[in-house]
Amino acid sequence: MRRRAKTRNPLKTTTTPAKQQRRTNQRGIRKQASRTNGKDQCLPSFTYTSSPCSTEWIRTDARRTAIGLDLDLESLEWCLENNLSKIGADGYSRMLLFHGNVLQPMESRLVKQKFTNLVHGLDLNSNNGTGSNSCKQMGLADSKCLANLTMSEADFPARDIICAFNYSCCCLHSRKDLVLYFRHVRSVLSERGGIFVMDVYGGISSERKLRLQRKFPSFTYFWEQDEFDIISRQTRISLHFQGGKKQMMRYAFTYHWRLWSIPEIKDCLEEAGFKWVHVWMREMPNTQSGGNAKEYNANRDVKYEESQHFNQGDAWNAYVVGVANV
Ligand SMILES: C[S@@+](CC[C@H](N)C(=O)[O-])C[C@H]1O[C@@H](n2cnc3c(N)ncnc32)[C@H](O)[C@@H]1O
Repeated sequence: MRRRAKTRNPLKTTTTPAKQQRRTNQRGIRKQASRTNGKDQCLPSFTYTSSPCSTEWIRTDARRTAIGLDLDLESLEWCLENNLSKIGADGYSRMLLFHGNVLQPMESRLVKQKFTNLVHGLDLNSNNGTGSNSCKQMGLADSKCLANLTMSEADFPARDIICAFNYSCCCLHSRKDLVLYFRHVRSVLSERGGIFVMDVYGGISSERKLRLQRKFPSFTYFWEQDEFDIISRQTRISLHFQGGKKQMMRYAFTYHWRLWSIPEIKDCLEEAGFKWVHVWMREMPNTQSGGNAKEYNANRDVKYEESQHFNQGDAWNAYVVGVANV
């Protein structure tokens, strides 16, 4: 994936002996996790930079915590800087972002919350104690303790919801990997009704070359779809943005995706141990239409419905929900 956003220079990390660091880390994590007594947890695996889902999750209830995991460090840092900063210090202490691969989640590493420094003018890393005091005042002591933590060193309680949105599962191209990812998800979900939610799209328009645009008052968004290979079911999606009259940000994001069918996803979830799989679907605006926001909004009220059957059409979107247990 290519992104244009710039990152700033990383700040120094703290230097406590590894063993002591790990113990402190685990205490810190448990303290954060215990705020919810293991309830209302959200681990938006595959969470990404903008991840509005997890930010909104913690913003709307002070007891909630969230954990994100993504392969793209730049995206995670962008999230910390741009989304979490809006929630403030409390948000930082309730969301942990890990950098790594969902296929080896335990090896992923906590992204250092360096942006707290920038946002609050604090020096979390200073060895003269000032930073540490400031952290405590702000309730941020944990963020210092957690630097360099790997997921395997953390002792998280079972999660209630795990989300993989914006078609993230399409980044996995083999069935073996999809099942492996689902197994990891299943293994950390709460036995008391923990759910996994992912989205997927399809329709006749998704299996051919396509260029869509959506106009908003201040910018236009372009979805560019390459030819669709029916043997591998893969395509390349590029997203471009135009702000104002001239500023064009081409290839802001590029993804190489395999379009999974709903029965394939369902089979893989069941193979990974999910007890129940539900599918919620809706038709999307026709891709032949002009693509202005007015036309799009006219279609906004079409609701998702739980479906057993759905006739093929130009474009549809689905949420597939796996229930760990009941
Ligand atoms: C289409 S984006 C969606 C991002 C995010 N879920 C959201 O809602 O904004 C897909 C994301 O999946 C990440 N990704 C792809 N393969 C991955 C893997 N094996 N492990 C972890 N993250 C991965 C990419 O870095 C990218 O940020």
